[in-house]
Amino acid sequence: MKIVQEVVLIWIVLALFLQNACNVEGRYHYHKGQKKKGSSSTSPVPPPESQDPAPPSPAYSPVPAVPSPPGPDPSNSSSSGIYDVTAFGAAGDGSSDDTPAFTAAWKAACAVESGVVLAPSGHTFMITSTIFSGPCKPGLVFQVDGVLMPPNGPDSWPKGDSKNQWLVFYRLDGMTLTGTGTIEGNGGPWWELPCKPHRGPSGQTASGPCESPTMIRFFMSSNLAVNGLRIQNSPQFHMKFDGCEGVQIEKLSISSPKLSPNTDGIHLGNTKSVGIYNSMISNGDDCISIGTGCSDVNIEGVTCGPSHGISIGSLGVHNSQACVSNITVRNVMIRESDNGLRIKTWQGGSGSVTGISFENIQMEDVRNCIIVDQYYCLSKACRNETSAVYVNDLSYRNIKGTYNVISPPIHFACSDTVPCTNITMSEVELLPHEGELVDDPFCWNAYGVQETVTIPPIDCLRDGMPQTVAESPAYSC
Ligand SMILES: *[C@@H]1O[C@H](CO)[C@@H](O)[C@H](O)[C@H]1NC(C)=O
Ligand SMILES: *[C@@H]1O[C@H](CO)[C@@H](O)[C@H](O)[C@H]1NC(C)=O
Ligand SMILES: *[C@@H]1O[C@H](CO)[C@@H](O)[C@H](O)[C@H]1NC(C)=O
Ligand SMILES: *[C@@H]1O[C@H](CO)[C@@H](O)[C@H](O)[C@H]1NC(C)=O
Repeated sequence: MKIVQEVVLIWIVLALFLQNACNVEGRYHYHKGQKKKGSSSTSPVPPPESQDPAPPSPAYSPVPAVPSPPGPDPSNSSSSGIYDVTAFGAAGDGSSDDTPAFTAAWKAACAVESGVVLAPSGHTFMITSTIFSGPCKPGLVFQVDGVLMPPNGPDSWPKGDSKNQWLVFYRLDGMTLTGTGTIEGNGGPWWELPCKPHRGPSGQTASGPCESPTMIRFFMSSNLAVNGLRIQNSPQFHMKFDGCEGVQIEKLSISSPKLSPNTDGIHLGNTKSVGIYNSMISNGDDCISIGTGCSDVNIEGVTCGPSHGISIGSLGVHNSQACVSNITVRNVMIRESDNGLRIKTWQGGSGSVTGISFENIQMEDVRNCIIVDQYYCLSKACRNETSAVYVNDLSYRNIKGTYNVISPPIHFACSDTVPCTNITMSEVELLPHEGELVDDPFCWNAYGVQETVTIPPIDCLRDGMPQTVAESPAYSC
């Protein structure tokens, strides 16, 4: 809604400009704090927090007809720092290539403080794989109120463009991605590539090029906010953060079909200080996945499903060191998912996963509600190895709901040589969604305590600490 107000504000400023630019009233209105007063003089504007879709934008005729306001690029800019891509030549008809207009609007907005790149409502913009890079002036906003989408599938992908990524935000500090619109991934043709699971001839998985773009990637950036948008039908991961610090995600709706391959909702790698709040995610792979190098992640008020649940890992592939710490998942609903809360590590890794807390989680028809798997392997041919990523300080509190009886709801498969330690379970109560109770929870080399009686009962969790605690430097981070 902010944008509507800003547009109204521009009108008022321009109107005043034409009337008499230097009376006291004019300066009064120019103040940002006076937005409300300004907007009351035209049609009513919804309150700022309203989630209503933006009303059709009042025929916002971009600037040229009026006296040039100050700015780096007078012909295309506005005094409020809004850079509407249509003013830079974007057609927004769903088929023209609007990439040059977006990059020009980005360049202009990047150069001013609190610049806004606006993809307005009422249009569908098509852009090709693009890196929006910084550094930029602080407070940059990329606002999608309309629809933004990539070319439709691998056959339309320009040769020479990266097929690994579509929208990339790189080297930014203090940027916001927001809007009331939709970022549409046109993922269908990518999911059907013969290399994707069971999509080859006669249901095989064929070999061949399989690259598919991550829809939105933030790379080496800090103090990011992402909110309000609908993000859907990604060719591969919907959002990925690599090497970022300070990320606030809120009120997103992420969706792809249940059977779309590798469409993780939000993936974090080497990223610290992250909040993911009040969002809905349904897709064909992990709802949220957390890779190595992540710490201080707080997930709250998220609904996952259908999906593959919330996953830490896989970690330690190819004997690598992995470090994940201080992850909190609270007040989350997981439904119709292949996993619930999962930690998966490969044999042969090092490092640790520590300080992981799951609290107030509602499960509905979930396979493997609680699972730690230190034998993660994509083929049957993984060798038995002696090292592993150490898993320590896990707590599961108030985890309730129903499981799919295809597999036991609780499964702790810890390494032979590096046991999992200090697992706390409290008020874990899981019942079959349909059918017979599966009351054979599995634990191997898992140490911890149950503060209350767990349902289904588990008697395989070992008391105390193992004789050989993982104290070797290999397990420190
Ligand atoms: C301003 O927008 C026009 C299209 O309306 C475009 O032709 C022109 O190159 C833009 N100017 C700059 C400096 O980007
Ligand atoms: C754990 O992460 C949260 C953010 O999720 C942060 O506020 C807190 O300070 C961190 N705790 C430690 C001990 O680092
Ligand atoms: C790994 O160890 C398990 C259990 O000890 C054994 O059944 C399996 O055959 C071993 N696999 C290999 C590849 O050595
Ligand atoms: C066990 O983990 C909890 C957090 O779940 C932590 O508060 C406690 O200090 C840990 N205990 C030991 C002995 O490390």
